[in-house]
Amino acid sequence: MRIAPTKLETFRDDFSYTNSDFAIERFPFPFPQDDYMYSVNIEPHTLPGPVDSVYEHLIDVDEHYLSEMRERSLVLEEMPKRCLAMPHMELACWDMIDRCMTTMAEDYPEWFSLTKNGDQWHWHNKLLKIEDTFTFGDSSTLPMPPMEYMGRQVQGDFALLDQRDGDLFMDAGVVTCPADWSIAFDAGMGFKEWHGPVPMANEMGIFDRALKYLCAIPVNRPVRRLNWTLTVNARMDTSPETYSKWGSDRTTLTPENIGKKIYLRVELQMMDRMPRSNALMMSIRTYLASMEDLCSNPEWARRLHRVMKGLPQPLVEYKGLTRYHPMLVEWLSQFDPVN
Ligand code: HEM
Repeated sequence: MRIAPTKLETFRDDFSYTNSDFAIERFPFPFPQDDYMYSVNIEPHTLPGPVDSVYEHLIDVDEHYLSEMRERSLVLEEMPKRCLAMPHMELACWDMIDRCMTTMAEDYPEWFSLTKNGDQWHWHNKLLKIEDTFTFGDSSTLPMPPMEYMGRQVQGDFALLDQRDGDLFMDAGVVTCPADWSIAFDAGMGFKEWHGPVPMANEMGIFDRALKYLCAIPVNRPVRRLNWTLTVNARMDTSPETYSKWGSDRTTLTPENIGKKIYLRVELQMMDRMPRSNALMMSIRTYLASMEDLCSNPEWARRLHRVMKGLPQPLVEYKGLTRYHPMLVEWLSQFDPVN
């Protein structure tokens, strides 16, 4: 059964973040085979998904909700520009409010409630003790701009993409737990432009095909894909803006601590068409689990060894693993009879 979010953990300083057995069991393990290469790995986000899985609802609210919301508020306090919305994205932001509030209230009635009376809406977030009545579409009736208001109450980063001329433009977003990219830098860019630093995928035609697929997504047919990287310590905010805080973490790894300190960082990416604005909402939900926790599952442990060992060098470099990749492969080899 889904665990109520009661704990308050940290993703910085003392890193008190931990996963329950339940969280490890439902972890979205991203490797269906013994090797890994980029692909157009998009599939329908068919709802409801399997009970208690991360795919059960449009938006997964889990045991880390309170901790992740506090982390978001810490980042926004230091760097308010990690949330931005260009003026023409106002309607898309309200679409996001509607989609998030409506589904969260339906899927988790014990934690959230929404009452609509024409355009007078009443929202109650019992977990964060937030209660507001506002006029839908009128930003002056909310305590803060709509993107920030919703972003502070839903786990995962969000980007709102404006669709025009057969392309998607990153014109709004709240991004406080990125895997080394910046919304301020990518703002206004098109799909292939913001994907510019990714090796190999463009040459493989992946971005051409993915963009066509995304531009054709209709309302009420959300899709999803998994992406992954590795992070030292359970640090959510690995942004270029804070590189000076986390870049040197890589130098602290030893064969003795690598199983505890390296986290598999999986992004459950969900893309959903917005009905009023025609924007595409992209949620990037990050799940963190330590190598040690993941390796309590022998199948995952063996697979992690094989995937990491065979990872193409350009991906090792792009994902920032170069310095510790051999040490990790060596550590993982203890779980694989064929090594
Ligand atoms: C429209 C929604 C999407 C957004 C907002 C988005 C955004 C991003 C961003 C910001 C990056 C980091 C680029 C950098 O290094 O600066 C990235 C990486 C990447 N994206 Fe996307 N993306 C989207 C959809 C997709 C889709 C549909 C695919 C493929 C089917 C895809 C494939 C990739 C790949 C392979 C990487 C490299 C990831 C890694 O190795 O860690 N993206 N994306």
